[in-house]
Amino acid sequence: MNNNAIGVFDSGVGGLTCVSELQKILPHEDIIYLGDTARIPYGTRSKETVFEYAKQDVAFFREHNVKMIIVACGTVSAVMMTYPIFNDGELSSGVLYPAVRAACDSTRNKRIGVIATSASIKSGGYGKAIREIIPDAKLVGKACPMFVPLVENGYTDRGNEVAKIIARDYLQVMIDEDVDTLIMGCTHYPLLRDIISDIMGEKVTLISPGAEAAKYALRTLSEKDMLTSNKQNGKLELYCTDSVELFTENVKTILGSDINGKIYRTVLK
Ligand code: DGL
Repeated sequence: MNNNAIGVFDSGVGGLTCVSELQKILPHEDIIYLGDTARIPYGTRSKETVFEYAKQDVAFFREHNVKMIIVACGTVSAVMMTYPIFNDGELSSGVLYPAVRAACDSTRNKRIGVIATSASIKSGGYGKAIREIIPDAKLVGKACPMFVPLVENGYTDRGNEVAKIIARDYLQVMIDEDVDTLIMGCTHYPLLRDIISDIMGEKVTLISPGAEAAKYALRTLSEKDMLTSNKQNGKLELYCTDSVELFTENVKTILGSDINGKIYRTVLK
């Protein structure tokens, strides 16, 4: 057993889609979350810049002595396929491989869509990982750069007309290409799930990378006998790199207003 916290990070609030799943399936684990809100978005930046930011995110968790680091950011997960950020022996997971595994298990017609940030789509990482499992899969990728600002500004309700117009435009290609499985390859996007699923229809399976990474963490920590021995609900500690007020509002919208956790501002080095 290991009672240290699990570390989870993203550029903003998207990685909370991983935290909410962790709280469901590993309720006794302590979690430390970092949202690098001062530098969001990551997904429009070069891979070199994302790599520099990711190294600082990981250094933050090394200082906090966590037992596992989950990169709850599709962009960093894709970039680190080329630029590794972890040392040998460090327990970590990105969201890309767990999401791809779930998509490959789910597809029946081998036509898989991936919506993600521009940096993730440009990296080609999702396609590479999918073809390692299904070599003749048809992959349809689409960058959706306006989704992250919509989410960070709370434009997520099912009836939000602005979000609906933008989503319809981005997703038309997925309908035209008849995908039966759609990876919401940026962890912010599942916060638009209602809008996305209304457009794609109930026959298309939507994959949430944060939720899949949480399931992977459960499997890995169990296999390695590293689950906590705590019997009470785990503690949640949240850090952001910009305004605590704005971050708190967003966190409450996503995790519920009774988030039983403390929120702090930190400076990354
Ligand atoms: N949530 C992030 C991702 O999964 C990044 C959003 C961004 O910073 O552009 O890619």
